[in-house]
Amino acid sequence: MKITPPVPVSVDKMTIDVSEIEGLLQAPPMNLPAWQDASFLLGDGRTMFIRSMTDQDVPMLLDFMKLVMQEEKDFYDIVGARVYAEILGVKRKRLKDPFTLLGLIDGEFVGFANGRFMNKEIALSLHTMAFSRRGKVGWAMYYAKTYYALEVCKANQWWSTFESYNGWRMAGLAMAQPTLPWPEYQHELGGAKIYYVNQDSWNASLKGWLPNYIGNDMDFNPTDEVRKANEVMRMPDKLEL
Ligand SMILES: CC(C)(COP(=O)(O)OP(=O)(O)OC[C@H]1O[C@@H](n2cnc3c(N)ncnc32)[C@H](O)[C@@H]1OP(=O)(O)O)[C@@H](O)C(=O)NCCC(=O)NCCS
Repeated sequence: MKITPPVPVSVDKMTIDVSEIEGLLQAPPMNLPAWQDASFLLGDGRTMFIRSMTDQDVPMLLDFMKLVMQEEKDFYDIVGARVYAEILGVKRKRLKDPFTLLGLIDGEFVGFANGRFMNKEIALSLHTMAFSRRGKVGWAMYYAKTYYALEVCKANQWWSTFESYNGWRMAGLAMAQPTLPWPEYQHELGGAKIYYVNQDSWNASLKGWLPNYIGNDMDFNPTDEVRKANEVMRMPDKLEL
């Protein structure tokens, strides 16, 4: 919109350094603590290594998500499309305080989980994905990011929503998560209901959810053997859903 200035001005055009615009578009980071590498023994005997996503991982993950978003089965398409945007959002710095965990078995990428902090009190769960099925990979990944938000970062509340039956079964039902009133409160993923865990429900029972269901807990001292086996990440050869 152009309006005639109400006073005489020294210059009638200003140039703007785009780095100043960037300063406005990027949110100042909260400096979240680092995720400590973990290993997790799945019920089927395989060991999954859970680590943070790095900048180097981004191109291959984006390429892989292009395949995932073409698969309609079990809602992999909508979740894949959103995860693509979220990974790109990390790269382009258009996500406020994100955290992204990857699950690897013998170097193969099998699990994904991410979230972000709205503020110091509230952390949002974004997405969980399993690419090796029937092993409860997704359950371990969802637990890992919940643990990070509530146990490591000490958020007061952890807000999730579910876009698929398997997602709802995994964390809505199995964690017996209550919901906030809807439509007054809406999750940023499409305005769906917000399911939540808070420090009370976490400490009272849900901290033990993964060990209770699977019988094992995360080990934050992965062996050298596990680290070595997962030093180089590769994408699955094909999408077997
Ligand atoms: C939701 C998700 C993370 C759950 O993780 P998970 O339990 O490790 O995932 P799986 O898909 O391997 O298994 C879930 C269920 O799907 C069914 N299933 C999966 N593969 C199957 C197959 N080949 N044959 C029959 N049933 C199958 C089973 O009921 C299985 O439960 P079970 O392992 O207790 O038998 C995972 O299903 C997923 O990535 N889905 C697509 C993305 C998504 O919906 N994410 C959540 C967004 S809210």
